[in-house]
Amino acid sequence: MTNAKEGQIIFIAGPVVKADGMKGAKMYDVVQVGEEGLIGEIIGLLGDQATMQVYEETAGVVPGEKVVQTERPLSVALAPGLIGMIYDGIQRPLAKIMKKTGMYMARGVRVDSLDFQKKWHFVPKVKAGKEVSEGQVLGVVQETPVVLHKIMVPPDVSGKLTFLAGEGDYTIEEIVATVNAEGNKKDLAMLQYWPVRMARPFVKKFDPEIPLLTGQRILDAFFPLTKGGTAAIPGGFGTGKTVTQHQLAKWCDADIIVYVGCGERGNEMTEVLMEFPELEDPRTGQPLMNRTILIANTSNMPVAAREASVYTGITIAEYYRDMGYTVGLMADSTSRWAEALREISGRLEEMPGEEGYPAYLASKLADFYERAGYVQVIGPEKKTGSIAIIGAVSPPGGDFSEPVTQNTLRIVKVFWALDSDLADKKHFPAIHWLKSYSLYLEKASDWWKKNVNEEWPELREKAMKLLQKENELQEIIQLVGPDALPHHEQIVLEASRIIREDFLQQHAYHRVDTYCPTTKQYQMMKIMLDYFDRLNDALKKGVRIDVLKAQRDMKEKISRLKYIDNKTFDRDSKQVTKLIEKTFSKLLEGSK
Ligand SMILES: Nc1ncnc2c1ncn2[C@@H]1O[C@H](COP(=O)(O)OP(=O)(O)OP(=O)(O)O)[C@@H](O)[C@H]1O
Ligand SMILES: [Mg+2]
Repeated sequence: MTNAKEGQIIFIAGPVVKADGMKGAKMYDVVQVGEEGLIGEIIGLLGDQATMQVYEETAGVVPGEKVVQTERPLSVALAPGLIGMIYDGIQRPLAKIMKKTGMYMARGVRVDSLDFQKKWHFVPKVKAGKEVSEGQVLGVVQETPVVLHKIMVPPDVSGKLTFLAGEGDYTIEEIVATVNAEGNKKDLAMLQYWPVRMARPFVKKFDPEIPLLTGQRILDAFFPLTKGGTAAIPGGFGTGKTVTQHQLAKWCDADIIVYVGCGERGNEMTEVLMEFPELEDPRTGQPLMNRTILIANTSNMPVAAREASVYTGITIAEYYRDMGYTVGLMADSTSRWAEALREISGRLEEMPGEEGYPAYLASKLADFYERAGYVQVIGPEKKTGSIAIIGAVSPPGGDFSEPVTQNTLRIVKVFWALDSDLADKKHFPAIHWLKSYSLYLEKASDWWKKNVNEEWPELREKAMKLLQKENELQEIIQLVGPDALPHHEQIVLEASRIIREDFLQQHAYHRVDTYCPTTKQYQMMKIMLDYFDRLNDALKKGVRIDVLKAQRDMKEKISRLKYIDNKTFDRDSKQVTKLIEKTFSKLLEGSK
């Protein structure tokens, strides 16, 4: 690279490097830093002097070494082959790096993001000679058994399609189409690049209205997220952020999952890496990796690449959204990402804001979540696509008043508040029903009404009221004990306990309970609230409270509803209903 533009390092502080002689450099362009050519990105320019963040460990690099400009912004490679990949924060396949360098990622390692040799079976979908425009699907490739990859005209390209490859096998670099835009011939391969810091364009955004179903009862039934919606899961140490994110990645009904493990401990990510390839999608019976892309930038990897990892993730998510897919992006944890921002900002000696975070923390967070949404994608087909973002937040000491939690709460529409007390009591998921909320509740209720049962909103409301009432009664209980309460309030306690323990608690590691379909959620709720009504009725008709409370067999059956196989639930839950009916008619019989 003799004629490459080169500068010289004049300053190094951890991931931050400054260089002189960087004439013509542009913000966010990628540079190769030092003799080893470490990958970095320009984040500040003053005259010919550039400030860069380096994505690899800089120890040992010294002033005087060269900095080579690539004159390209930090971009991701987009093409068939992304699904199933496990990348680091700047889209380097982890498996390939480790093969080259072992567990410790050596520096300056160059590996391709995608397989450039592999041939994919391309099936054209338009005819040469036609006018085509940005976003238009030119052909398709069956990327995995469940993902049909659409080869699209890149944004900002339109014109006459003068060439389109016939059905056949091509590498991602081979030319499959040529578009002639006003005399400007543009050859297109299946591979396109997109700068990660720039949102991919879309036509318009709609209000999200279809729930993103997760199979997690407290989420679907009480605090629903939508396709294209945004949610945060804040929680102190060990309260269940990662388990919840994993559950979402495994079970939510998105077409594509992008999971960004951001600054978490290596072993947490290893769990994902080991576990995911084994898992099956309940809807398709296919391995879950057939719809999943993992991005891992654990706490032992360089901090600047962590900063980039969420952008790498969201750009890949947008690319699949543009094909018309429902995408779910999980980021665990956005606090570690914010800490990366803080560290880099500190090295740059910027004026610190709240708790040392840079003043632009809020706008960076907003920009990230802004890339979620339910949109009409570009292209003449007028398709829709969506990205839901779910960000874990790890406030130090579980204190939600800290800046990352607060700034996130201003942006997201769903708040799943993890609670240390619940986690201590082993109530999992430890999402607190009185502290959490969803602004999508109304829309989701409409969906449940149409698709599950008319009476759903009433049932949910009734269950929520019971939980609120239980909370109000707590103070009195602490003073006088539960047995001093009027009998109808003791019934409230009994019913709310069932909602809490037998509905809201859900075991992520139980074969059946790990995933609960909406119809089962509805039926469980129905049986539990029916039980509550019957208790009240029996009480009114003179059945003694201690007799009501002593019906162990019936209670046991209700508490085991969640473990009834999802496939046979319809049939087997009827036996529970029958037992309840029988028990109450006996009790009423006896009270006459
Ligand atoms: N839904 C669940 N079902 C069963 N166990 C759970 C569930 N959620 C959390 N747990 C238990 O809580 C433990 C801690 O959860 P997790 O690792 O997700 O916490 P975290 O908030 O990510 O912690 P950290 O702050 O260390 O990242 C899990 O190992 C598991 O034992
Ligand atoms: Mg965690």
